Order: sequence, then C-alpha cells, then structure tokens
Amino acid sequence: MGFKSVLLVTLGSLLSFCSTAKVNKHFFPPNFKIGVANAAAQIEGAWNEDGKGETIWDRFAMSHPDWIFDHSSPQVAADSYHKWREDVEMVKEMGVDHYRLSIAWARIYPDGYKTEEPNARGVAYYKNLLRSLRALGIEPMVTLYHWDLPQKLQDDFGGWLSPKIVDIFADYARTCFELFGDEVNWWITINEPKQICEAGYGSGGYAPGVFSPGVGNYKCAKNVLLAHAKAYHIYDKEFRKKNQGKVAIVIDSNWFEPASAKPEDKEASERSLQFTYGLYGNPVFNGDWPAVVKERVAQRSKQAGLKESRLPALTKEEIKLIKGTYDFLCINHYTSHKVSAWYEPPVTDTSFGADIGVNDWMPKEWPKGGEGWFSVWAPGMRKLLNWLKDTYNNPEIVITENGLSDNTGTLEDDHRINYYRDYLSNCLDAIYIDNVNLTGYTAWSILDDWEWRTGYHSLIGMYKVDFNDPNRARIPKKSAAYFTQIAKNRCLAENPAECIH
Ligand SMILES: *[C@@H]1O[C@H](CO)[C@@H](O)[C@H](O)[C@H]1NC(C)=O
Repeated sequence: MGFKSVLLVTLGSLLSFCSTAKVNKHFFPPNFKIGVANAAAQIEGAWNEDGKGETIWDRFAMSHPDWIFDHSSPQVAADSYHKWREDVEMVKEMGVDHYRLSIAWARIYPDGYKTEEPNARGVAYYKNLLRSLRALGIEPMVTLYHWDLPQKLQDDFGGWLSPKIVDIFADYARTCFELFGDEVNWWITINEPKQICEAGYGSGGYAPGVFSPGVGNYKCAKNVLLAHAKAYHIYDKEFRKKNQGKVAIVIDSNWFEPASAKPEDKEASERSLQFTYGLYGNPVFNGDWPAVVKERVAQRSKQAGLKESRLPALTKEEIKLIKGTYDFLCINHYTSHKVSAWYEPPVTDTSFGADIGVNDWMPKEWPKGGEGWFSVWAPGMRKLLNWLKDTYNNPEIVITENGLSDNTGTLEDDHRINYYRDYLSNCLDAIYIDNVNLTGYTAWSILDDWEWRTGYHSLIGMYKVDFNDPNRARIPKKSAAYFTQIAKNRCLAENPAECIH
C-alpha cells in the first residue's frame, strides 16, 4: 500500500468519523413498507366546520392560549380539511407505500356518543380521502384515536378517567370499521397512551390538563387498554373475515441507555422501559402490568399509608380480554436518554418520574434536536428494536413515527436528512444483523403541523407550511426529495449502484 492510499484511507476514515456512522447499504426487504404520517387535529383545521364537535385540544388551546408555546390553536392548522387533494398528491409524489392518518372522532360523532346516524359530512370527508389514496395505490394506515377526545365526554364523566369511555369508544370503533373497513387494511386503535394518560391525566401538561399524578394516569391506562381491547375484539369477531385487515395499538418510547455497565444502571434502563413501553405493551403482549411496575407502585402506595395500590389491579377477566390484542407491534420513537440508579424518591411524591425512580437525562455528548428538548442518538433506535424483539417474543414490528423538528423551518434541512439516514440505517442493522422482524417505517411528518403544546414553534415536516399564508402553501424542503429518493431506491446508499441485497 503506497503512501497516497494510506493517506486516503486515513482521511476517509476521519471524514466518516466526523460526519456520521457508517450507512447500511442493504436494500429494504422486498415487502418492507415505507410511509409518512400525520394526524387529524394537527393538520385538518376546520375545527368547527361541517358538524365537527369540539375536542379537548380545541378547548385546551383556545381557553388557555398561554398554555401553548406560541399561543396558537388547531383551528386552521395546515387546513388539510380543505386541501386534502393536494396532500394526497404530495404523498403520491413521494412514492411511498403508505400514509398514516387519523380519523377525528368528533367529525363522526360530534359529542362522542353513538347516534342513530353518524355525521354525514365527516364521513364523506374520510371516504373521499381514503378512496383517493387507494386509487393511487397508497395504503392507508388509520388511527381511530390520536388524542382528540370529544370535549363532551370529558365534561360528562371525565373522559379516560372513567370506565364509561370503554364502551363508548368501542361503539365509535365499530362505526369506523363498518364505514371504512373496505378501504382500510391497517387499523391503529389508539396512539401513544403514555401521552394521553401521563401528560393528559397525570402531570396535566396535555389536554384535558387534569393534574392527578400517580392516580389519574394509571386509571386512564387501564381504561385505554380496555377500550383498545374491546375494539380489537370487535374487529376480530365482526370484520376480520370480510376485510382481512390488521389491528394494533401504537405505543411510544424513548430508548434509555444505561449510564454504565453496572447492574444497577442496567436495571434503571429496564425499569424505565417497563414503565414507559411496558405499562401498555406488557398487558397487550403478555397479560397484566409489568411485574416491576406492579411491585414499585404497590410498595410506594403502602409506604404512603394507602390501603390499595395507586395502580388499579387488572382482574383475570380483564387480563384475558387485553392479552393478545395485537396483529403486530407499533413503536413511535424519537429520542434517547441516559439513565442511572438513583436514591428512592420520597413516597409522598406520586409523580410518574418518582414511581420510576431513576436518574434520567439528555447527555451533553449527544447533539440536541428539535428545540433542545430532544437528543439525537440513532443507535437508540436499534437498541429499542432489539429490546422489543426480546421482550415481546419476536413480533412483527412497524415503526409508526420517527422524525426531527426544528424551529427555523429552513428548506435546507440537512439535519433532518441526516436524522432519517442514521435512524433508517439503524433499522437496517436491526433487520440484517439482529434479525428483528421490522416490516415498516413511517416518517413523522409529511408536512409541518400543529405540534400540540409547542404549536407552530416545532416544525417537523418534509414539506414546509407557511402558517401566515391564508392559503397554507406547501413547499418541499430538501428532506422531501431525500425521502422520495429512499422510497424509490429502497436503499440508503447515495449511489444506487452500491445497494446490496
Ligand atoms: C415477520 O412477521 C410476519 C408477520 O407475522 C411473518 O409473516 C414473517 O414470517 C415474519 N418474518 C420473520 C423473518 O420472522
């Protein structure tokens, strides 16, 4: 080897060290589905049009503008209710296999309760949207509940805090299966129960803003699981034979990297994962709450002088109803944290964080994404996929959300391109090196949207939306072209000739 080539090799390895980890150049497997996502409340707008009822997020944002970073609300958002044809075209142009969207419950039943006839204009909107997607060969993946609870159900009985919600959700789910079952093969019952329950009914940071740490979040968790399970069984008994679709719940989780190889730090990681993914995943995949969650909450409740655990028990019948209600496993994943063992927080602190009881932080050595609230560490994706494979007996896994926000809205979004490339490369490592049965990936998001508490301050789309423009024009960012290229080449190599089978 001559001097010149040594120099080149050294330079080459230095450069790759400086930029990013090595990119996996395998083709995505033949039936792997690549898609993009969004949700009703974040893009549709038209918050009170054509008979739609008020939702808890409409109320939350409009009655307390100061609770939203930029004092915005979902009233207009990206106006997709009126611009859906353009959005379907955008999805088509990207060449993706599927589009994940959600149905706004309050467009079908404005008050949430089943009525003799669902709201015809709401039904027509989704029928047109779903049929147009199918006509273009795009598989819709449809979420029934993406956080937008009809406000009336919150006012009448406390929403997800009451077991009354279970049958009311099941009725709504059946209606959707009836109305849209011919167009939909992929159903998601409920999106991110941790955010619904812990943020909505525990810490109170999300709508409906109920502050009931360590009590409300667990009551909600139980009702969400029962509602999901009922909907699953309805599909199984009444629709599966005819429609041949699949049903799952979407659970979100960070990866929690142990700060050291010490057993207590590894235990801190496992405990964090069990409280986060496992709180919902264990009942659905294995039955009952995770053992560590049951033990810790029971012990901390007892030490605080309570007669019963703050975590409501699941009866044998309930476990039977919930266990096995999945056709595949879904994961929303954005970021990793580091964790280590910690002292036991006082039992008077009933917050979710205290129940977990670990030291949890975003390490300085990992770059910050988003608006600083989020660490970018792509190996966490692969580690989480392996944890899911090992913990839930090697299920089929679909990534239902993954992406990166910023607050500049720049069209030159190389940071987003790097994020998708590195996270997707780790997905390919999980498939080809670790034999994880990952069959799909869904990027969040196709277009800039209303990001809940951070409003229009968090911009996370591959298409920019100008929220000051009454027309809400969509403009492709650099990442849109990048993702289109991935969907077309089905490989991450910049030069398609380098792709390997
Ligand atoms: C992955 O899961 C699908 C659906 O359950 C199954 O058909 C397929 O055989 C699995 N693949 C592997 C490699 O286990």
